[in-house]
Amino acid sequence: MSELSVNHLLGIKYLKEQDIQLIFETADHFKEVINRSIKKVPSLRDITIANVFFENSTRTKLSFELAEKRLSADVINFSAGQSSVKKGETLVDTVNNILSMKVDMVVMRHPNPGAGIFLSKHVKAAIVNAGDGAHEHPTQALLDSYSIREKLGDVAGKNVVIVGDILHSRVALSNIFALKLQGANVKVCGPKTLIPKYIESLGVEVETDLRKALNWCDVANMLRIQNERLDISYFPTTREYTQQFGVNKKLLESLDKEIVIMHPGPINRGVEITSDVADSKQSIILNQVENGVAIRMAVIYLLASKIK
Ligand code: CP
Repeated sequence: MSELSVNHLLGIKYLKEQDIQLIFETADHFKEVINRSIKKVPSLRDITIANVFFENSTRTKLSFELAEKRLSADVINFSAGQSSVKKGETLVDTVNNILSMKVDMVVMRHPNPGAGIFLSKHVKAAIVNAGDGAHEHPTQALLDSYSIREKLGDVAGKNVVIVGDILHSRVALSNIFALKLQGANVKVCGPKTLIPKYIESLGVEVETDLRKALNWCDVANMLRIQNERLDISYFPTTREYTQQFGVNKKLLESLDKEIVIMHPGPINRGVEITSDVADSKQSIILNQVENGVAIRMAVIYLLASKIK
């Protein structure tokens, strides 16, 4: 397979396993490029990309911008907070105005699930979903799987537990799709109130005992408690959540084996993981961030090659 089966990256749900392998092989090449002394290639000299962010971001926004610049694309950035969205302009009007400045690709983060899918039907540009509400965060899942592949050699056959707020997490859903597509075994672990009822229909097992989940897994992906999406109380107190579902050094050291710790960021230190776990040699959190640039270069490069 030499090109993606899709013209947009809207979610992992729309990808085939071969798409993921193509993205990883392309990312391998770009990872080598960004570790050279000259980190830039001229691949996308004629492409203009708009990063359109309606929600806060540190890692995703900077990582996309760096990926685009490393590929020599022209880049414009848009943050809703400082824009005419505040004056009532619609999403489609906003993006069509950006596109009339001859933009080829839009990378968008939006609080509404499906915002990227909606946009792809109404504007003429390649759309990359950089996170849409509690729906999907495809490039996060790709960089997560890529980091597992880098650390453990393969994703197929590995046991991965995703811990925390599964209900509100786009990272969880995209990771489940990506891991299952590659043949990993997946469990979710968290308070029952934060595990959606449909989750087992995705081929995922539920484990509410964190110690059992950790003793089973090769990799634990620790999710952030998303206070901004918790409209009601899903657990009694943050302290109780941490006691039941937080990972600390003592717990890690009491396990039967050494496991890999991941976190998409931003971390609530002392809530889902303690600092001594986040900063330990078992943690690959900063490798995930590094790999994010290579993965996003690969996604942008492959989608740009499909623009007619
Ligand atoms: N992982 C992630 O999406 O982080 P940001 O919200 O900082 O982009």
